[in-house]
Amino acid sequence: MSKKKVKKLINGKGIRYDGRKLNELRPIKLEVGVLDNADGSAYIEQGKNKILAAVYGPKEVHPKHLAMPDRSLLRCRYHMAPFSVEERKSPAPSRREKELSKVIREAFEPSVFTEYYPRTSIDIVIEVLQADGGTRCAGITAASLALADAGIPMRDLVSACAAGKVEGHLVLDVADLEDKQGEADVPVAYMPNLNAITLLQMDGMLTSEEFEQAINLAVEGCKQIYQLQKEALKAKYVEVKEAKKEDAEQ
Ligand code: CDP
Repeated sequence: MSKKKVKKLINGKGIRYDGRKLNELRPIKLEVGVLDNADGSAYIEQGKNKILAAVYGPKEVHPKHLAMPDRSLLRCRYHMAPFSVEERKSPAPSRREKELSKVIREAFEPSVFTEYYPRTSIDIVIEVLQADGGTRCAGITAASLALADAGIPMRDLVSACAAGKVEGHLVLDVADLEDKQGEADVPVAYMPNLNAITLLQMDGMLTSEEFEQAINLAVEGCKQIYQLQKEALKAKYVEVKEAKKEDAEQ
């Protein structure tokens, strides 16, 4: 990948190359209900990441033999558009995308009440339009809103964020350059009300103390993201309420 190598990612005052403090998230924009033809949808911008999430279901399972008698089949497809990264990506699903689809599905399994909808499927589709590090986490944050928008009952929202180690410092919400040049990346998905982690991965090298600190830092990030998710959901329902009021007045 041809991203320019920046010599120093963190200055002497503990400020990162993009102006953030060590424990600061990138700016996040969330929007719920952005696609008319999906049952639920959401859009996220986190720094330079731009990601759409759509949810279909609960609906009839195709192929039929995959249907389960006691619960809904939860499926996930994470995909990066060819133009989402610096070097054009083949549209065919890569090994990385298959792995991410699996871990993202697993991040939602503890949350979704799949047992409410036997013999059906719930499909989560995540399309990365522009990537700048941390797309699995941003994808989870958006997909969680899309599930809520589809009206699918969940034990808790899932919020996700990575922490990492860059030039010897633990940092929150690792951007692409920090991921490439840094020492480690720890993506975490978290259910804030249940205080439960549903995805935990690590790429790189950390001591066991640093690993624990990175998890705690990522969880703090998830808690901040959870507040933004709640606001985004409320904003959608204010819009719906206002639209209904206008209809009634006409
Ligand atoms: O995106 P995330 O951090 O969850 O996954 P990653 O595999 O650690 O990828 C980190 C970043 O590498 C992505 O967010 C992209 O910005 C970049 N990447 C890329 O430029 N080309 C690819 N084919 C895959 C990833």
